[in-house]
Amino acid sequence: MPLDRFQREIDYLRISLTDHCNLRCVYCMPLAGAAYAPLEGLLTSGEIERVARAAARVGFRKIRLTGGEPTLRPDLVDIVRRIASVPGIGDVALTTNGILLPKLAPALADAGLRRVNVHIDSLDRERISRMMRWASLDDVWAGIEAACAAGFTPLKLNCVVVGGYNEADVVDMARLTRERSWHVRFIELMPLGGGECARVATQSFVSNRDTRRRIEEALGPLEEMPPTSPSDESRNFRLRGAAGVIGFISPVSEPYCGSCNRMRLTADGRFHLCLLRDDELDVRAALRDGADDRRIAAILLRAVGAKPTGHDLLHGVSTRERSMHHLGG
Ligand code: 5AD
Ligand code: SF4
Repeated sequence: MPLDRFQREIDYLRISLTDHCNLRCVYCMPLAGAAYAPLEGLLTSGEIERVARAAARVGFRKIRLTGGEPTLRPDLVDIVRRIASVPGIGDVALTTNGILLPKLAPALADAGLRRVNVHIDSLDRERISRMMRWASLDDVWAGIEAACAAGFTPLKLNCVVVGGYNEADVVDMARLTRERSWHVRFIELMPLGGGECARVATQSFVSNRDTRRRIEEALGPLEEMPPTSPSDESRNFRLRGAAGVIGFISPVSEPYCGSCNRMRLTADGRFHLCLLRDDELDVRAALRDGADDRRIAAILLRAVGAKPTGHDLLHGVSTRERSMHHLGG
């Protein structure tokens, strides 16, 4: 397994398939004027498969497909099938806003996808539309039901908590876990990219300590569960007697850089070394230059070796070049 210079085992690759999205969540994409990579710059399904093979060869075990919104890729099912067939990759997952899952979930399951995370910020019709802008509750809910019907387990729901929008809705979201075996995870807002969304993120931050207090006041005490793996970024809890799990992902108030196991690949073919920094290493040029698999693997190992540690969000240091819709969390 590849070790970085801080002795972290890096075995998890997150691949962004596109920087486009069919929604415009207030903290992620501006209504107009987002910067997109030119389409011919996006890695093809074949190029993505080559990177996945190189990753497996050097010891990566887990791949997540993300975006922007990965279901906008017309070749998503093909990409899943290619990656699921790479020897050594034991786990292929997808992070999505769910809108297109009613159409895609059965084919994705058939192609080898096992798990999805669906992004949903509220169960309130008006507030979900205010936050995720082009989404309706019915659309996102239909996606969640399609994910259940396709057998993706455990189903994880991601809720980004934003002050002035959904901080009170966390109680209804958490209540879902009483009856359903889902993982409902509350994510602290991070400012990325320096634009309008980064401003929203900085001004509207809610700490998970406040979110947890709100949930416990309404629904009773949360019992902490033992971590499933040292690199799980979520601290997991259960309401007494509940079927599902409540998770808190707190990159701002409780950074987990010390146990980071991730490498990211952008849709335009750069290894992005840390979510909250701009450092990148190009792999697309090599892919298009006839590099063999050993060279692709060597570039990935170089990226692992150059991974920084420790972010500086509290002093306002974040990415400038890349926003969340280029990196996919
Ligand atoms: N801060 C924290 N999480 C975010 N996401 C999108 N933008 C932000 C942000 N600024 C979440 C989405 C998605 C995941 C990939 O990242 O909810 O589920
Ligand atoms: Fe799209 Fe996800 Fe960003 Fe919302 S958070 S705009 S669904 S990429």
